[in-house]
Amino acid sequence: MVVLLTPESARQALTGMPDGYDAFWKEGFTGVAGPHSIWVLSGDAHRQERGLLSPAFHASNFRSYGETIRGIVQKKTADWQPGQTRRILDTTLSISLEVILRIVFGIGSGRFVEPGQRVLYDLWRKATPYFIFFPWLMRDWFPPWRRYSAAKEQFTAWVNDIIAERQNSPEQSGDVLGQMLAMHYEDGSAMNAEAIRDELITLLMAGNETTATALAWALYDLGNNPDVLATLRQELDAFGPDPDPGLVTRLPYLSAVCNETLRLHTLLPEVGRVLFSPLDLCGHTLPAGTSVVVSVMAIHHDPGLYPEPDLYNPERFSKRSYGVFEFMPFGGGHRRCLGAGLSDYEMRISLAEIVTHWDFAPAAREQEVRHDIAMGTKKGVLLYIKGRRTGGERNI
Ligand code: HEM
Repeated sequence: MVVLLTPESARQALTGMPDGYDAFWKEGFTGVAGPHSIWVLSGDAHRQERGLLSPAFHASNFRSYGETIRGIVQKKTADWQPGQTRRILDTTLSISLEVILRIVFGIGSGRFVEPGQRVLYDLWRKATPYFIFFPWLMRDWFPPWRRYSAAKEQFTAWVNDIIAERQNSPEQSGDVLGQMLAMHYEDGSAMNAEAIRDELITLLMAGNETTATALAWALYDLGNNPDVLATLRQELDAFGPDPDPGLVTRLPYLSAVCNETLRLHTLLPEVGRVLFSPLDLCGHTLPAGTSVVVSVMAIHHDPGLYPEPDLYNPERFSKRSYGVFEFMPFGGGHRRCLGAGLSDYEMRISLAEIVTHWDFAPAAREQEVRHDIAMGTKKGVLLYIKGRRTGGERNI
């Protein structure tokens, strides 16, 4: 395994010969998501799948969901009471799960909602990191695998039910599942139910905890940095209590705050590829079979790029712009995160909504801990809820 620590080596590794790379942790992800998952595809098959799925994740496709996301955040924070201490990750997880249900699965009301919330949560909870790191544990004698397999069966039945209903209705919807049903591969064939299921599991596993954790960290950091919070509120307050979501997502200081959170708490500390064939990299020839791993964490904490890297300082993103391999929370190259735009969009709208309407402060010191392939929080971010900001109104 070769670990890369600089933007230049990351650029060389991630932009060179896409056909020369296999997926990282392939066996584990194949077991968890399935053999059709974009995570485990490589070469032409990966390129074709990205081509099919990318339009569904284009900003123009989810821009119409701004009000929906804000509504979800309002609903999930409606029962907050002054004086309570809340484990904020529970709230942010339930926000991101519902966003996935709406935008990816297209489920907002009707008979699929309640079982959907249950099966999605269950499947996500039962996917333990052991499966990724020790694929030989994916056997029926291992109780966590049996539980995961049972959850996957329930999920499959629920998805098949939705697919059957959608196929009987001529209406085309803009959600990701609706788009998958309308897609065709180069040979003219449509995605079959199994491939759709594998991709839906992938999107759930990739998009749920990551976005939720980022939002929880953003609130924690803001609570610890009242000056930054005040500057952010100044920017947001200028647009009234319910600003146009499209406008919110373009606010520069909010963007700097989100970027600094994703830098300081690099959620996926490394991204990797496995070489199919030898690669010349930074003056070395690496043999086929080598795992090439970019330490995004190291790049995000390089004092040459980010002076005082352990300090929370969103202004650094206002003062200069960073290259795509200098700031890369979503990885890079031909496997860059498919949901980066959606995640950014959701994070900004959710953060703006909470910061505008609630006063809060951290109730305990938080710590970063490794969960599986991602970094998480030790306590789930405990926040003390002081109350609604001046009765939910703002001083404009
Ligand atoms: C803060 C939230 C998120 C972070 C930090 C994150 C980060 C990442 C990273 C680092 C990768 C690997 C990229 C590489 O190998 O170069 C990745 C891949 C991926 N992510 Fe995300 N992600 C987030 C949210 C999402 C969301 C919301 C979705 C979709 C609902 C999503 C879907 C995917 C998919 C499908 C891949 C695999 C892409 C491929 O192999 O072609 N992610 N993500």
